[in-house]
Amino acid sequence: MNQNTDFIPFALPSIEKEEEEAVLRVLRSGWLTTGKETLAFEKEFASYTGASHALAVNSATAGLHLTMEAMGIGPGDVVIVPTYTFTATAEVIRYCGADPWFVDMGETSWNMDPQKVSDTIASLKKKGRSLKGIMPVHIGGDPEFLKDLHSLAVQNELFLVEDAAHCFPVETEQGYVGTYTDAGVYSFYANKTITTGEGGMIAVKNPELARRMEIMRLHGIDRPAWDRYTSQKASWEYDIVAPGFKYNMTDISAAIGRVQLSKAKDLMHKRQRLVASYLEALSDLDFLELPLWKNEHAWHLFLIKIKTEKLSIGRNRFIEELQEAGIGTSVHYKPLHMMSYYKERYNLSNGNFPLAENAFQRVISLPLFPDMSEEQLQRVCHTIKSIGAVHRIRETAGCG
Ligand SMILES: Cc1ncc(COP(=O)(O)O)c(C=O)c1O
Repeated sequence: MNQNTDFIPFALPSIEKEEEEAVLRVLRSGWLTTGKETLAFEKEFASYTGASHALAVNSATAGLHLTMEAMGIGPGDVVIVPTYTFTATAEVIRYCGADPWFVDMGETSWNMDPQKVSDTIASLKKKGRSLKGIMPVHIGGDPEFLKDLHSLAVQNELFLVEDAAHCFPVETEQGYVGTYTDAGVYSFYANKTITTGEGGMIAVKNPELARRMEIMRLHGIDRPAWDRYTSQKASWEYDIVAPGFKYNMTDISAAIGRVQLSKAKDLMHKRQRLVASYLEALSDLDFLELPLWKNEHAWHLFLIKIKTEKLSIGRNRFIEELQEAGIGTSVHYKPLHMMSYYKERYNLSNGNFPLAENAFQRVISLPLFPDMSEEQLQRVCHTIKSIGAVHRIRETAGCG
């Protein structure tokens, strides 16, 4: 445990009195599980984003699984995903017995490269593989390439389901990220841009897919719990139409979510202001590679890269020195093809996706959360400068 009371965490949820009151309201109401709070949250989320259908779930992983199940993928089918992501993106494809097909990131982007996706589509078709869809991830909250990937999906008659875990609430020309493709799944995990502790939301266009997910979200029962316990019809009068899952959101979570949703833009603007400060304070440091400023970005993560060739220490030691100075960080991500399960199952090895591997060796996620103070941010930047000053490799002057 870090003993420093001034420790700056990597992430911190922004919870205020309103969220506390919302939880108390539900606790005192006599109805804790999926009910009117969840219904209201879904309705408010759909009207906020313009999503055709919004379905609340107990995690984004659950939402992605429901989406893959509704898309009908199974053994022999393939879905293109980035290697540079969290395992949930790929594991939900495996839940259905289908296989993820990894693609590397872009030269100057954290996201899956559309040209490489296009080449992969061509090569999978040539091999006669049953390619069903593309699942991009907006790493850190950046929807870069979404438009291109969507066009590729449409041209090739593939589904495009967004793992939008990092990307709420980002509005683009086409609408909110996650709402204008086949489906988008958001995460409300504790460190995300809005939170319900654990939770997620699916935005889906097609009403039949929405209906399937609604049923599969709760055991394959053809009647929602709320309806069973409040309508005139006997609560045991229901049918099971499939072996479904237990993925529903509780009203306790939904009550927190409704408050967070009402503040979503404010929370994002706070993140954006912090990012602008970071960019200004760190811009002179030649041993760092910084992200470019973007408006259309949720800034869930502030990812920097250490130019390790300019320092006498590697990324891990850099993180340790930040930790010793009371600064929490994280690493997003160790690419999936480097993880034993995927490596062994798909016969992958280090070297297969060089850009993702290179990024992983250098990346640090710096602290970023809405209530982070400017003082905390300046302390992070000051510490980074000091570490750099100590470990910067001196360039010897040429002797002409
Ligand atoms: C890219 C990505 N996809 C999916 C998930 C899963 O989200 P959840 O924890 O809500 O299941 C995460 C969680 O961190 C994530 O980062």
